[in-house]
Amino acid sequence: MTRVVMQAESTPSTEAAVFAALRHTGIVTLEILPTRQEVLTCARRILRITSHEASDPDGLTVIRDTGRHTGREGFAGLSNGEVLPHTERSSLATPPRLMMLVCARPATTGGQCLLADGHAVYADLAEDHPDALAALSAARSAFFGGRDGHLGSVFTPRPDGRPQIRLRWDSLARFSPLAQPYLPVLRAAIARRQRTLTLAAGQGYVLDNTRWLHARTAFTGPRLCYRALGEPKDVGP
Ligand SMILES: [Fe+2]
Repeated sequence: MTRVVMQAESTPSTEAAVFAALRHTGIVTLEILPTRQEVLTCARRILRITSHEASDPDGLTVIRDTGRHTGREGFAGLSNGEVLPHTERSSLATPPRLMMLVCARPATTGGQCLLADGHAVYADLAEDHPDALAALSAARSAFFGGRDGHLGSVFTPRPDGRPQIRLRWDSLARFSPLAQPYLPVLRAAIARRQRTLTLAAGQGYVLDNTRWLHARTAFTGPRLCYRALGEPKDVGP
């Protein structure tokens, strides 16, 4: 993975390196001063931040164990529990293209980020389980979210021919009878392709949320991360 050091002083080459990596691999790791203001400043250089119900007025979301979200569907990220591989905001017609996450305070134990490249998962299935890939790519084979959720599929071709991935594993995901039997195969392919990132304070990543799935192991301690969602500030695929 490309690693970029971002500082308060913006340099065009820094942003260019981030966007080049995002276009090429869909992911870049970052080193930033672990203050909220620094994270916000750097996030605004990379993406046009979109707010939602869990974000603060500046658009950032503080990801930590609030003590109030344990067991609440759709809010696993705000507990200290395991979070299974998912697309951020998978219930929207168009999920945010980018997600940036920066660790301000690491966990005492656990809390690793598990990241899987959807293109690699797709290639894995195409090679060994084309029947699974067909079922998981069929129109109207998966529903994500509540009443206003999104009916679609795990894999959807993008206009450029590359696959877009959309997934969640909690009770807000439902699958067609044809797709359901292939979920263990999908889960295994994701596990094979997952990479583990252990973030220290000031370390983070930006990923293409339509390509990479993210997950997190359970943790203890005062883990705190800042997250921004939004659209890339450059133009490109
Ligand atoms: Fe998430």
